[in-house]
Amino acid sequence: MPALQPRIAPSILAADFAHLGAQVREVVDAGARVIHVDVMDGHFVPPFSMGPQVCSALRALELDIELDVHLMVERPERHVADFASAGASNITIHAEATPHLNYAVQQIRELGCTAGVAVCPSTPLDVYRELDVDLALCMTVNPGWGGQAFIPSSPDKIRRLRALIGDGRELEVDGGIDAATAGPAAEAGATLFVAGSALFGADDPAASYHAIAAAAGCSQP
Ligand code: DX5
Ligand code: ZN
Repeated sequence: MPALQPRIAPSILAADFAHLGAQVREVVDAGARVIHVDVMDGHFVPPFSMGPQVCSALRALELDIELDVHLMVERPERHVADFASAGASNITIHAEATPHLNYAVQQIRELGCTAGVAVCPSTPLDVYRELDVDLALCMTVNPGWGGQAFIPSSPDKIRRLRALIGDGRELEVDGGIDAATAGPAAEAGATLFVAGSALFGADDPAASYHAIAAAAGCSQP
């Protein structure tokens, strides 16, 4: 399979929720076609963040976007239907969050979404030998908070993950992605780059989008 074109997925966790629609339109106008939605349950990770209502609200904007839902929740199989109904395109669950990973991946596909599996920085990659996923998400920070520094050993893990899943499958990186770290992640084999604070925390999110897209090797930043 041919390698995928790199894409940037702005994470709305870092957006101004009082102006969410305007903030999303700004990055879509800059070129984004994937919006990353971080869901936290206060158990798998300490904070709470947002639920399916936010996906429905984003869908109501009627933009040409994919919704990339990252579930940082325990027992995600109990929640995937709600996110599919709310308009998710892809649903990614954590390998550490359920003993029923194969079942949950099947369920996501039956709901009409693509299925991703994420691993925390300390989780071995062996799980990807046992599962057929549409997307593999390599956390490049510990999940739960935006604004953390990219873990320096991440490119080595990304490289090993790419070798394991082969070309033609989405390899997403999440955490500490900016114009400096996107390049090494791309060089190691990442194709989908989540960026939160580097985008929405910037004075000019569109300019920041273009800088990260250029660093990631996007053909049309
Ligand atoms: C962290 C979330 C990330 C977060 C990234 O647990 O999964 O998606 O929004 O934020 P930045 O880009 O600020 O590291
Ligand atoms: Zn995320």
